[in-house]
Amino acid sequence: MNIASPADYRAAARRKLPPFLFHYIDGGSYSERTLRNNTEDFETIALRQLVLRNVSGLDLATNLFGEHLALPVVLAPVGLTGMYARRGEVQAARAAASRGVPFTLSTVSVCPIEEVSPAISRPLWFQLYVLRDRGFMRNVLERAAAAGVTTLVFTVDMPVPGARYRDAHSGMSGPFAPARRIAQAITHPHWAWNVGLRGTPHDLGNVSRYLGKPTGLADYIGWLGANFDPSIAWRDLQWIRDFWKGPIVIKGILDPQDARDAVSFGADGIVVSNHGGRQLDGVLSSARALPAISDAVKGQAKILADSGIRSGLDVVRALALGADAVMIGRSFAYALAAGGERAVANLLDLFAQEMRVAMTLTGASTVAQIGRHNLVG
Ligand code: GLV
Repeated sequence: MNIASPADYRAAARRKLPPFLFHYIDGGSYSERTLRNNTEDFETIALRQLVLRNVSGLDLATNLFGEHLALPVVLAPVGLTGMYARRGEVQAARAAASRGVPFTLSTVSVCPIEEVSPAISRPLWFQLYVLRDRGFMRNVLERAAAAGVTTLVFTVDMPVPGARYRDAHSGMSGPFAPARRIAQAITHPHWAWNVGLRGTPHDLGNVSRYLGKPTGLADYIGWLGANFDPSIAWRDLQWIRDFWKGPIVIKGILDPQDARDAVSFGADGIVVSNHGGRQLDGVLSSARALPAISDAVKGQAKILADSGIRSGLDVVRALALGADAVMIGRSFAYALAAGGERAVANLLDLFAQEMRVAMTLTGASTVAQIGRHNLVG
């Protein structure tokens, strides 16, 4: 099947990737109720069609933290992106830069900061978890600053990992996982050659540079698991606000109270997110969480939304609910797996085209003009 819509990349990724990797991207936690709600709740929001409003000067651009974005979309931090395509973080970051939007490098990326940052023509964003190993946190922040990272995305919704049962079924984890992964690679020779063999080293680049030894996929879950820190509270994070001179975006906010606390902490932005339905299943979808959060902190911090945004129409819906911009994770990971840098660039073009139609037919000529008046009900 040829690629016509953003959704087509999911099917293409499914064909290309060994199942353990496809399901790692595609899956959520527990019964995946929040994962499903995320997409359904966006899709069922009714846009208000308004015609003949002279939207000839349509402009998708916006500004975040002094940075120009050609469209209000940021590539979200996605772990192990370098397993979906050869040196995948570099490819995705290049695609984002070519379309004028930021790419956020995950702490648990395959390619280290030092490989990705020099490969692109705009500032890299970097994502950090709260980890027990404060030495690592400090080290990686110093390296990010040295590599010219501007915006720090600080993920706060992972003090413990949610259970992703699909990973145990697919061979990502569970009994005989290494043998199952090898068997799957053999039956996906295109991936095995392009990524499995030619995309090495497959370690966690940011972590192995700190630990001084390679950290392969097998170590990934162990290292992260041993490093989650449930003892953490806002006051423990103050050193990061003091240390990091650039903008800080707190990712993983679902409640107006947490949004207010993030603003008091000194956050420049927040990401309304349930981690793509990968953490606590049963929590609100981001579409449903957004309006109250926007009422609580709009104007005090930039509001980004992720979890469930799969199209340019969804971007317009998220902006109408109060977001200033969105993050996309799975959408770009599928495209990257399907066709590398070119596919991610094409995905961003498709998002932009869909946004243009949605804005034209809702009578909004700029991103700033999009608001709740563009929705019905
Ligand atoms: C990591 O953040 C994940 O959701 O796998």
